[in-house]
Amino acid sequence: MANDNTLPLTTVAGAPVANNQDSLTAGPRGPMLLQDVWFLEKMAHFDREVIPERRMHAKGSGAFGTLTITNDISQYTSAKVFSEVGKKTEMFARFSTVAGERGAADAERDIRGFAVKFYTEEGNWDLVGNNTPVFFFRDPLKFPDLNHAVKRDPRTNLRSAENNWDFWTNLPESLHQVTIVMSDRGIPASYRHMHGFGSHTYSLINAEGERFWVKFHHVTQQGIKNLTDEEAGALVGSDRESHQRDLFDSIENGDFPKWKLMVQVMPEADAETYKYHPFDLTKVWSKKDYPLIEVGEWELNRNAENYFADVEQAAFSPANVVPGISFSPDRMLQGRLFSYGDAQRYRLGVNHHQIPVNAPKAPVNSYHRDGAMRVDGNQGRTPSIEPNSYSRWSQQSAYADPALAVGATADRFNYREDDANYFEQPGILFREKMSEEQRQVLFENTARAIDGASQATIERHIYNCTQADPAYGEGVRKAIEALQASK
Ligand code: HEM
Repeated sequence: MANDNTLPLTTVAGAPVANNQDSLTAGPRGPMLLQDVWFLEKMAHFDREVIPERRMHAKGSGAFGTLTITNDISQYTSAKVFSEVGKKTEMFARFSTVAGERGAADAERDIRGFAVKFYTEEGNWDLVGNNTPVFFFRDPLKFPDLNHAVKRDPRTNLRSAENNWDFWTNLPESLHQVTIVMSDRGIPASYRHMHGFGSHTYSLINAEGERFWVKFHHVTQQGIKNLTDEEAGALVGSDRESHQRDLFDSIENGDFPKWKLMVQVMPEADAETYKYHPFDLTKVWSKKDYPLIEVGEWELNRNAENYFADVEQAAFSPANVVPGISFSPDRMLQGRLFSYGDAQRYRLGVNHHQIPVNAPKAPVNSYHRDGAMRVDGNQGRTPSIEPNSYSRWSQQSAYADPALAVGATADRFNYREDDANYFEQPGILFREKMSEEQRQVLFENTARAIDGASQATIERHIYNCTQADPAYGEGVRKAIEALQASK
């Protein structure tokens, strides 16, 4: 029945749908007919609605925003995104938990992902970081093991304290990251109330071709706010989407969250002599040695109109850098340069760069062609050959990184033993950055989290904590004993 008041419901081919209530059958009680093509289309589409979730960081929230440059750092980098004070660049951010699946609760004790994409005039720059400045280990060969440690047990399909802590404690370099996750910062109250870190050492390259090593920081302007285990437990009971709700509502209400973008800059030659391995993701650079320099401020000011289109289909990759910003020899970063694009080719397809949230605002002049879901005209009639005699797109040698001297012997070097000073920084964090009360919170959070692991694993963790500070080991032991006694 035609209805003049509404626009027609259509098939994907644009033809009006006559009936969206009753399937086509042979008689009122008979079987369905294969010629009910509307039913076939609707059901077939539904059957394919789910795409793979991200292997890590599956649960997340995102929004669009604007970066404004507030300080001139052109002495360190030629990147045009930083070229003038006052310059504005559009951006998209996605925050996430790490271990939980796409339907997991938000208020869980876990690292938070902190990924930002800047649509610069020289292409997209993605800074795919976390809310902590360090990570569990130093070699990307261990990453799939971490995933298996924090995800579900193959038999019980439950999260397993033993799998998790057996893995962490056998990698003593993880103690710094574990200490942060078990601290009062381990459950941020919301995505708005946490700092972000690029975490790895990256490089900046200036117009003279000089290289500087750099760490990126996002400093929350909402202040740090965290939840205790008890508060989080109660919250999850009433609202599993607390982070999503908080971010979405605050942007919707015009209360735009803001972060200051800051950098720590190290002259290239300092890497040879700095007291900590400068490319070791389990360690930070002291702010006394390399103070924070303000670069800009960004705010999130627009929610996605459609969560799936923009947030779920967002693809961030540390490989997306722009002239003036580049990589470092950090092995973890090197491993990630491959893994993200590879995961996204699987999760979203080889042409995922064309999905609007991922599409650069800069022109794309590439000879890649074809592939599933190529929807941008495929460069039309342009032949895809290079070199060519027609002055079509050519490489721009002016953008090459300056040469980097590296060791010449290929081997499987034990990176874990290169500056195997695993315990100094967690010790500093424990002694100098935590109050008495925060230390007690750390002990008790650890006791609850490790509960269920074997005694051998518990002892290994206490041993590692003791290496950082005897009072850390002692505090964790007492908290575990108290928890066990209370049962
Ligand atoms: C997501 C791999 C370490 C932050 C992912 C994804 C993969 C991955 C495959 C899913 C990508 C997608 O489907 O779009 C790895 C590997 C690592 C590593 C192999 C180490 C060798 C790290 C580190 C950080 C980090 C050190 C932070 C400093 C993130 C974030 C996301 C993510 C924020 C979610 C991005 C988004 O919101 O879409 N990682 N990761 N990862 N990873 Fe990593």
